[in-house]
Amino acid sequence: MAKSLQVGLIGSEFMGRAHSNAWMNVGSFFDLPRSVVMHTVADLPGNAGHLKKFAPQWGWRNTSVNWREMVADPEIDLVDVVTPNHVHRDNAIAALEAGKHVACEKPLAGTLDDAREMLAAAKKAKKCRTFVWYNYRRCPAVALAHQLVKAGRLGRIFHIRASYLQDWGGPETPLLWRFQGKKAGSGAHGDLNAHIIDMARFITGDEITEVTGAIEQTFIKEREIIESSGGEISGKGAKRSATKRMGRSTVDDCVLFLARFRRGAVASFEATRLATGNQNRNQIEINGEKGSIKFDFERMNELSWWDNTLESRLRGWSRIMCTNPGDHPYADAYWPPAHIIGYEHCFVSQASDIIKVLAGRKPVVPLPDFADAYETQRVLHAAIVSAREKRPVKMSGVK
Ligand SMILES: NC(=O)c1ccc[n+]([C@@H]2O[C@H](COP(=O)([O-])OP(=O)(O)OC[C@H]3O[C@@H](n4cnc5c(N)ncnc54)[C@H](O)[C@@H]3O)[C@@H](O)[C@H]2O)c1
Repeated sequence: MAKSLQVGLIGSEFMGRAHSNAWMNVGSFFDLPRSVVMHTVADLPGNAGHLKKFAPQWGWRNTSVNWREMVADPEIDLVDVVTPNHVHRDNAIAALEAGKHVACEKPLAGTLDDAREMLAAAKKAKKCRTFVWYNYRRCPAVALAHQLVKAGRLGRIFHIRASYLQDWGGPETPLLWRFQGKKAGSGAHGDLNAHIIDMARFITGDEITEVTGAIEQTFIKEREIIESSGGEISGKGAKRSATKRMGRSTVDDCVLFLARFRRGAVASFEATRLATGNQNRNQIEINGEKGSIKFDFERMNELSWWDNTLESRLRGWSRIMCTNPGDHPYADAYWPPAHIIGYEHCFVSQASDIIKVLAGRKPVVPLPDFADAYETQRVLHAAIVSAREKRPVKMSGVK
């Protein structure tokens, strides 16, 4: 077996746990060309105490409160970036300049300018590979949808209807980095629309040519300033100050927009953190001439499929349980049919594909690199221009 892959992680909260779990377990589920060594986890100096507990619990050999030092360590081969969006650029560029492969969380960056610099650094670092954790591509149902479209089973595609609805962003949720424009870049838009734009591009294999009709709305204008976050997405467990002080939320709570694809399909996208009752409802529906598919992450093991080539008396939505080893993407690695998998398995599967690509093998389904994620970032940017300038935006004008 080739030399083991030594991984360094920057960040150690929500995605820190998801990625640690992936690196820790990927070698158990998948037959890998290279083994993984979880070399070092890095975080801010203020998190030194947290790191001391986190590292042994999640399998890391060493800790660091200086990520630049960690990135420069000659023993490390791949730097995994799970920091807030405004930190991605510095983390990724430093790692690429040090000759490391980079696996960065989504969105590629908070802003298109940052993303462009990251892409330039990736192009310059010829020996380094880049990856972006658009993890929903690795839900077996989403990967199957991609395979069905590629095999022509949907025929010509007419409609794409995508929405990513969450409900944790009400007025009680404090002023986390996710509500600070300088750190997040945007709110529900970069957080959630990023995923469904990527999924729509990935499943259809097509690109957006125009964005129009965008609406950007901030409902909750002020949120409580906190001393430190509790590490949870909604700020549960955050350290509140004795005197309640409020600060301005500088991101959207929801963004909706329409789009046209190169091959003629039209699409709608909606992302919100205020869709009460929808906790993590990442949905996409694609309607083609020969068939349609529907996916809802809250039923992540299932893909709904309508085969329009059947005689009409037999047509109807079928619910495919995407867990059959040998038939469904990634199913061989896990359990017997209908012994379902969860959120964390998409990250385990992505870690496996990253290791395969680094060993010169093909991933089960395509992995997004910085160039690919930059296309999603351009669409995010175009939607904001469309919302603020109240006009259609041609993608050819967004560089
Ligand atoms: N793929 C997904 O499904 C998914 C889900 C959630 C978040 N994300 C993305 O993952 C990234 C991290 O999100 P999260 O939810 O884990 O955030 P989080 O707030 O839970 O964790 C961020 C971590 O980064 C550390 N950090 C902050 N600033 C730093 C700096 N300057 N240097 C070093 N470390 C720093 C924090 O201390 C913390 O450990 C974001 O880009 C987010 O968009 C992706």
